Amino acid sequence: MTTRTPQDYAPLAAAAQRVLQANRHAGTSHWENRSFDFVCPSNVTYPFQWLWDSCFHAIALTHVDVKLAQQELICLLQAAQPDGFIPHMILWEREKYIDKVRYYSIALMNDYLTAISQPPVLAQAVERVYNAGHDAAFLAGVLPRVKAYYRWWIQHRDPDHDGLVAIIQPDESGLDALPAYDALLKMTTVDRAGMRAAMQRLFAAYAPLRNDLAALIAADIFVVEDVLTNCAYAQGLRALARLCRVESQLNDAAEFDQLAGRVERALVTRCYDEPRGIFFDLLGAAEKPSGVVTVTSLLPLMLDNLDPAIAKRLVEEHLHNPAEFWLPYPVPSVAANEPSFDPEAKTDLLWRGSTWVNMNWFLVGGLRQHGYGEIADELVERTLAMVARGGFREYYSPYSGVGYGAPDFGWTTLVLDFVAL
Ligand code: GLC
Repeated sequence: MTTRTPQDYAPLAAAAQRVLQANRHAGTSHWENRSFDFVCPSNVTYPFQWLWDSCFHAIALTHVDVKLAQQELICLLQAAQPDGFIPHMILWEREKYIDKVRYYSIALMNDYLTAISQPPVLAQAVERVYNAGHDAAFLAGVLPRVKAYYRWWIQHRDPDHDGLVAIIQPDESGLDALPAYDALLKMTTVDRAGMRAAMQRLFAAYAPLRNDLAALIAADIFVVEDVLTNCAYAQGLRALARLCRVESQLNDAAEFDQLAGRVERALVTRCYDEPRGIFFDLLGAAEKPSGVVTVTSLLPLMLDNLDPAIAKRLVEEHLHNPAEFWLPYPVPSVAANEPSFDPEAKTDLLWRGSTWVNMNWFLVGGLRQHGYGEIADELVERTLAMVARGGFREYYSPYSGVGYGAPDFGWTTLVLDFVAL
């Protein structure tokens, strides 16, 4: 049990608010003269708008100013396409930061929008923002595009119709260099150069197929039924169904609930490894389990209807196990006993063992949902201690709590949600 009160964290909350303020970008873009006003992940390394980052920023902003939270999502939704797709980045100030654009490994659909998406956390964010203000006009304004986005995933990204959606690039999961993807990427060296070369190979193979998404997926170059993406999708569909009920759109609500149930069941029947009591991403059309234990292997804890026996194994055998994830500053992005475990990002690659606050946010919710309140409290406490110690960084050493990567990193302000608990 935590012995602290929210007041003890007042300085940390104030610092989070400062980060959200300092990372705010507003103006008029050369992209069709549109106005933008959003929080970027980091002024130093990521000055654009990112899809799932903005969803987390909006959730953090509900503790600061509901109007700003709404604005974050309204700004993001300007990028929604007629078919429902929402890109993972909007390069609002492209010209100003053109060096960054050149430096990133990204594929673009036009000068300002990228060609891939990111985990669908949008409905969760909309629900939180709506619940914080009960602004009916906000909900009515955004809901059609949110519904179209969740339909886009199942229509365009489930080619084998098994109820699991697939990503087509490693960074589409938001977990760029997760070791679970190494085999598919055929990385020659595990460092920045190796990753860059792998991305170049992927883009070269995709180039002739860019205008035909179905053909690109059929080419089976990098197709992953990713556990995180599908958990976010299922959780988002449940949130979306609730939002549709608020709007008395009962048929839509039933459609999204049904789809959520399908994704939840598919995750268990296809991604769950019963002997090991853990979930794996499925690689390629052959759906080969990655066999690499990462933080996303635990994320089905965030599913509504997870079998309690499976939840118990995830928590007791893995999450709460000091040989895997229960390190001094949990939860590392890769289990400590994996050969690829790189807790202090010595490889200079992301998501190979360091601790990230957004993963802890998912897990805290999942732990509480399944009756593990004490472990959730402990995880909150250690996460707050880590950020108090390491500052608002992009990721942290799970051993020392030292922060690394981008300074003043946006979604680390999710600690506002922890402080408010
Ligand atoms: C990194 C992260 C990705 C995030 C982006 C912006 O690329 O891996 O998840 O969206 O930075 O913060």
